[in-house]
Amino acid sequence: MSTDALVRAATAIRARGYAPYSKFLVGTAIRAGDGAIFVGCNVENAAYPQGVCAEAGAISAMVAAGQTRIAEVVVSGPGPMACTPCGGCRQKLREFAGPTTVVTMVDADGVVVISRTLQELLPDSFGPEHLG
Ligand code: THU
Repeated sequence: MSTDALVRAATAIRARGYAPYSKFLVGTAIRAGDGAIFVGCNVENAAYPQGVCAEAGAISAMVAAGQTRIAEVVVSGPGPMACTPCGGCRQKLREFAGPTTVVTMVDADGVVVISRTLQELLPDSFGPEHLG
C-alpha cells in the first residue's frame, strides 16, 4: 500500500469537509496496521469550539473498525503552507502511532508540502506507556 493511495484518499475526502466558518477544508487518510485506509474530514459547528478536525474523524473511523495501530498518515489542506496537525491531533495520533510513523502534508492538488515523523511533530511526548 503506497503513500500515493493515501494522498488520493485524503484529497478526495477533503472535498467532503464541512467548513462553512473557516472555509479551510482538511482531509486525512490513515493507513492502519492491517493496511486498511481510513479517512476523515473536518466538521465545523456554529458553536465554534465543537468543531472536529479531520484527523480525529479518521482516527475514530479506524478504531471503530477494530484497528489500533497507525502505520502512515496523510493530511490534505489548501496549501501553500503545510496543513500540519494541530497540537491536540498530534496527541491523538500519538496514541496509536510510533515515533517513526510518517505524517505527510499535501496541498489541495495532492502535491507533498512537507513530510515529518510523529517524533518530529511531537517530541518528548506523553503516551500510554507512561501509565505503566
Ligand atoms: N483543521 C483540521 O481539521 N486539521 C488540522 O490539522 C488543522 C486544522 C481544521 C479545524 C478547522 O475546521 C479548520 O481546520 C481551521 O482551523
